[in-house]
Amino acid sequence: MRDLDTFPRIRFGLLPTPIHKLENISRLLGTNVWIKRDDLIGVALGGNKVRKLEFLLADAKKQGAEIVFTTGGAQSNHAMLTAACASRIGLEPILILKKRGVTECKGNQLLEKLMGTEVRFMDTDSYDDIYEEMDRIGAARGRRYYKIPCGGSNALGSLGYVNCVREIAEQGQEFTHIICAEGSGGTHAGIALGARIFMPDTQVVGMMVDSDPFDEITPGIMREAAKLLELDIEIDNDKVLHRDVCGPGYAIASKEGNEAISLMAKNEGLFLDPVYTGKAFGGLIAMAREGAFKPEDNVLFLFSGGAGGLFAVEM
Ligand SMILES: Cc1ncc(COP(=O)(O)O)c(C=O)c1O
Repeated sequence: MRDLDTFPRIRFGLLPTPIHKLENISRLLGTNVWIKRDDLIGVALGGNKVRKLEFLLADAKKQGAEIVFTTGGAQSNHAMLTAACASRIGLEPILILKKRGVTECKGNQLLEKLMGTEVRFMDTDSYDDIYEEMDRIGAARGRRYYKIPCGGSNALGSLGYVNCVREIAEQGQEFTHIICAEGSGGTHAGIALGARIFMPDTQVVGMMVDSDPFDEITPGIMREAAKLLELDIEIDNDKVLHRDVCGPGYAIASKEGNEAISLMAKNEGLFLDPVYTGKAFGGLIAMAREGAFKPEDNVLFLFSGGAGGLFAVEM
């Protein structure tokens, strides 16, 4: 396997992020529930995308880019964090966002305004239209540009979460399960691949907050990332585990998600978001109620950020 440390990487995160036990929730759910605080990663309001951007923006720099494009919905945490990280290293971020969700100056839109980021909206459901628009604008500006896909979810970005599992393993506590939100697949792909390498006895479950075919997408990213790492392993789609927690639709609050947000707020003083982490934690609660965890299990929940969205989405 190629050593992760040989990939170009820009250190944006304050790593390692802490892991601690949720004592009250553990009592309520009858198992040991822990939380990995990637919300405290140290850029903007925190979040999982910083780990991916460490690899992606290093690649952009290496390729001599001056402009970085990315995309997502109007309240994309990924787009906001791309703007924050790119600006830090002197790259100009341009966000071309789908005109879907809350486009007013709230939540992540407000943060982008504060950063002075160039944000454009496209009234389309197709990311291909957006990637073409990036090429058109990039060519018109006559400067070198780098395109980061929606969610930073390609093989290189997912290495951020392979690296995160190495970090978790080095932090010393063993986990029977790791649970994360799955919105474009890269985080789950990185964790699932990282677990194969560094924590082979740990079961990873991605909580799907969107209705894309993650049973294909996530193992696909894992295979590409395994190639980057020069790893010779079989990835069986059926062994990459997911649970559908999308409810009424992507970025529309769900009853289970809202209950999870309240439970966490009341018992632990932490604020999950309605689009990703609330629904994902709702899935963890449902698994606990179904008896999926034994009392002696240690279940790690990835708090992947999302605070920006908490102030934009109706609950
Ligand atoms: C707060 C938060 N958690 C989880 C995710 C899901 O990560 P991924 O897109 O890698 O599946 C996202 C994605 O946008 C996010 O913003």
